[in-house]
Amino acid sequence: MSGADRAAPVPGRAGTVLDIDLAAIAGNWRRLQAELQPPALAGAVVKADAYGLGMAEVAPALAAAGCRLFFVATLDEGIALRRLLSKAEIAVFDGLLPETGGEFRHARLLPVLNDLGQIAAWRAEAQTRRLPAMIHVDTGMARLGLPPDELVRLAAEPDLLSGVPLAAVMSHLACADEPLHAQNAQQLGDFRRAIAQLPRAPASLAASSGIFLGRDYHFDIARPGAALYGVNPTPKRPNPMAQVIRLKGRILQVRDIDSGVTVGYGAAQRMERAGRVATIAIGYADGWLRSSSHRGSVGVAGQQAPVIGRISMDLLTVDVTGIDPALVRVGDFVDLIDEQHGVDAVAAAAGTIGYEILTALGRRHHRLYRGGAG
Ligand SMILES: Cc1ncc(COP(=O)(O)O)c(C=O)c1O
Repeated sequence: MSGADRAAPVPGRAGTVLDIDLAAIAGNWRRLQAELQPPALAGAVVKADAYGLGMAEVAPALAAAGCRLFFVATLDEGIALRRLLSKAEIAVFDGLLPETGGEFRHARLLPVLNDLGQIAAWRAEAQTRRLPAMIHVDTGMARLGLPPDELVRLAAEPDLLSGVPLAAVMSHLACADEPLHAQNAQQLGDFRRAIAQLPRAPASLAASSGIFLGRDYHFDIARPGAALYGVNPTPKRPNPMAQVIRLKGRILQVRDIDSGVTVGYGAAQRMERAGRVATIAIGYADGWLRSSSHRGSVGVAGQQAPVIGRISMDLLTVDVTGIDPALVRVGDFVDLIDEQHGVDAVAAAAGTIGYEILTALGRRHHRLYRGGAG
């Protein structure tokens, strides 16, 4: 963790503490910006409440670090971000839903136009003054963005964009976290061909992992999200990003258990020998996913204690048999996520990805923000 701790002390009633290092997020953004070849710029993706870490705290910290371009998913997120940052450029991935043009204009948001219908609707908004927008061209996700036939039409009829200066033309990589995947080069080629057919505009292809595919993928704007928040953008290699969060949970009860006793719902796990179990104040309602039942471990007094039994809504049970009882007391904290046992390790135990762990964290944790600009 870096940055001065200006947060209030943890109240005794806090069952869990989520410690978020804003200076580490800002440092990660600088690290990603440094990876790019100037004049390419790193924006910041702060959708889903900055991947669960709090857009209201994260976005100003990134702006203070020098970030000028932000991406959100929904119009509501864009409006909320505009209230936080009056000067930043804010683009909305989900695009222009019917009847929302006025709200985009009012909040000075850039819609990411995903099809010709959205382009026509935004052009209608731009009757009296020029209104910039981004365009998303699909090159291999079949999710959002202009499909190939619409790109052909747009290239043939550039007037479809009159009055709409392009703030960027973007596409999104499906397999950037697998550097050897053939689809990366295919999408790169298709994106190059797409931008060559459209009016000149800044181009954007790479998100977090794409930045680490090399300069060919950088273009003018990168759109990192997960890497800002400490998720490893290079999954098979050491994580180049700093860890951003720590999560601690309080021990609520410690008990001696006889051999053969079952622990938790479904009586799904039986103690094979007599031992001790500690119950921790975190469950799937706090983003400690049920899929990590019987899997993974938590740090108790510096040692890893295996999770036993099913995760329930508010509780988690761990086997502390081998740990000195004097170090396992009610009210003590155990380490759920820390530098040694980061978001990606927790995700692996739950059979998912770090993105899901972060965005599932929920609002029940006592949050401590460190290293902010203010
Ligand atoms: C279009 C687009 N760009 C960028 C991102 C950020 O991706 P990452 O979090 O992998 O950096 C996302 C996230 O899903 C996205 O949908």
